[in-house]
Amino acid sequence: MASGSARADPGDSGPFGGVAECEQLDPIDAAVTPSRRVLVTGASGFIAGHLLPRLASRGHRVRAMWRGRDGPGRSSAPGVDWVEADVTRPDSLDRAVLECDVVVHLAGCSAAEPGGSLERINVVGTRNLLVAALDARVQRIVYISALGASPAAGPYFRSRFQAEDAVMSSGLEHVILRPAVVYGPSDHFVTAILAVLRKFPVFPMLGDGTFKLQPVAVEDMVDALTQSVERPDVEGGLYEVAGPDRMSFVSIVRTVGEVSGLRRPILPLPDAVASPVTRLARSAGFATPFTREQLDVLRRGSVLSGEDNPLQSVFRVKPLPFRDALEDYLSSEPTGLAGDTGPGGATCP
Ligand SMILES: NC(=O)c1ccc[n+]([C@@H]2O[C@H](COP(=O)([O-])OP(=O)(O)OC[C@H]3O[C@@H](n4cnc5c(N)ncnc54)[C@H](OP(=O)(O)O)[C@@H]3O)[C@@H](O)[C@H]2O)c1
Repeated sequence: MASGSARADPGDSGPFGGVAECEQLDPIDAAVTPSRRVLVTGASGFIAGHLLPRLASRGHRVRAMWRGRDGPGRSSAPGVDWVEADVTRPDSLDRAVLECDVVVHLAGCSAAEPGGSLERINVVGTRNLLVAALDARVQRIVYISALGASPAAGPYFRSRFQAEDAVMSSGLEHVILRPAVVYGPSDHFVTAILAVLRKFPVFPMLGDGTFKLQPVAVEDMVDALTQSVERPDVEGGLYEVAGPDRMSFVSIVRTVGEVSGLRRPILPLPDAVASPVTRLARSAGFATPFTREQLDVLRRGSVLSGEDNPLQSVFRVKPLPFRDALEDYLSSEPTGLAGDTGPGGATCP
């Protein structure tokens, strides 16, 4: 179906219902960008919590797909319709994709759990969604993979790579984004660091923490996602998305400590000590920085593979420096960033 077809008529009533008129639509983009009917999966998650209001404010008609649990997206997206569905239950997806032009596929998990959840949710779940999208004649899918996706880099990155494959061979228009670790209000990354800085007099560091990361601000990520929905010319692309700063994990922890006023000495924990200490602390109900598995995900999905940053070269976004964005986030949210689930998000039942 061509973009801007009768299905995108704002006056049309249907399962999408109405979305509030955009108040601050960019006049240049408004002239060239038709309103789309967009399904966002993973709508109770961190990134969706920022994306949903942005898409709605741009005049798109947005349907948010969730599994029926509460999350930040539920409360922060006025004018968005919600649908309950699960990517592992194909029969639940038909209603979710009905009359959509674009699917932004954010549902996924980053932590391997017993029961093969990475394969079940990231790979099979993506295939289920593609089948439903093809049946419903969805025009485009925007898939969020992860920096470092590869068939040879551990179960998480393999699952991302396999899902990318499925998207690319689906026959749908597609845009694939591979973000570095994403941070911002209600994130899983800085929030986890802050939780430890608040609770402990030292920051226990698993390993030496010298590996480099290139965190990207959620606002910049949302810009890239929004353009992936709207721009015809980015179709077919696979784009890495990262911030401007390549920082060691240690320097990130130090920066978070400085900006939040919670400076703590960093205590390196050798592997032999780290695992039992982490297990003990978690079982006693204490926040711990990151598990070994989560650190492995961070370490491998760390920095851009080359010098080019598509956030600038393709999406024309000037990525926010880590310290500046963090200062903004922390000053606008006096209690700091919320949530405590660790990097890259949800564990998956
Ligand atoms: N945040 C990052 O730094 C980062 C970096 C690279 C890639 N990514 C990927 O980008 C996507 C969005 O990130 P995020 O940080 O917003 O993730 P998030 O907060 O963990 O949210 C993940 C979402 O996926 C949903 N979900 C999980 N299993 C599902 C299923 N079977 N059916 C339907 N929905 C399901 C979760 O629903 P429930 O609330 O019901 O669990 C949640 O809404 C994720 O796939 C993530 O792995 C994130």
